[in-house]
Amino acid sequence: MRQNIVAGNWKMNKNLQEGVELAKELQNILSANKPNCRVVIGTPFIHLTEVCKTVDQDLIGVSAQNCADQESGAYTGEVSAEMVKSTGARYVILGHSERRAYYGEDNAILKTKTDLALKNELTPIFCIGEVLEEREADKHFEVVKSQIEEALFHLSADDFKKIVLAYEPVWAIGTGKTASPDQAQEMHAFIRKTLADKYGKEVADETSILYGGSCKPSNAKELFANPDVDGGLIGGASLKAEDFQGIIAAF
Ligand code: G3H
Repeated sequence: MRQNIVAGNWKMNKNLQEGVELAKELQNILSANKPNCRVVIGTPFIHLTEVCKTVDQDLIGVSAQNCADQESGAYTGEVSAEMVKSTGARYVILGHSERRAYYGEDNAILKTKTDLALKNELTPIFCIGEVLEEREADKHFEVVKSQIEEALFHLSADDFKKIVLAYEPVWAIGTGKTASPDQAQEMHAFIRKTLADKYGKEVADETSILYGGSCKPSNAKELFANPDVDGGLIGGASLKAEDFQGIIAAF
């Protein structure tokens, strides 16, 4: 059966000391209250090595928030999937809407990043989602489908099984405006059907599809109660151990 996952995305928050402190706090809280789901934290690159030393990754998986679209070489400022892997991290968030919007990442780039992540045995947490204008124009299903098709449908079924998807409607990110449980379920069911049409029901049923966008302790339970919502990708509420724990406890 597919895994329920609560993944934090710290984005560009916390200096190294603050990040290690938060990781320590989470390690203490979760080793005392075993979670009923997989927990992952997505830290800035510079935190990865220390955070990997701080947490037990069977309890809290460590994730990068991006990786380069090249293997190695003269790409100043970039960090490769192989480098991420060498820190001990096991996951990488790819295709976040902030990367798509501010750093020009399109489906073709994300296809390459996904291949490099998989080649380096990292689990991609692959983000998809429409902007407000696309939802208002009733294009949200079409947009999400092409994001998946163009970046991921070249994968074999065996490789696709290694992907975690995160549906994040861009209008709900950091806005306090969460998708309703029905809106989330409707899109997640659509995504699962899209996967079933391509890879068959078994692969679709095994794929974890997370919801992201203003998820917090007060709304996590009703979002996660939906049959096709397998957890969350959490931004703001992952920055305080208490809030993050409140969301984890929704399972
Ligand atoms: O990656 C996480 C998402 O962008 C959600 O962010 O929980 O602050 O809305 P948020």
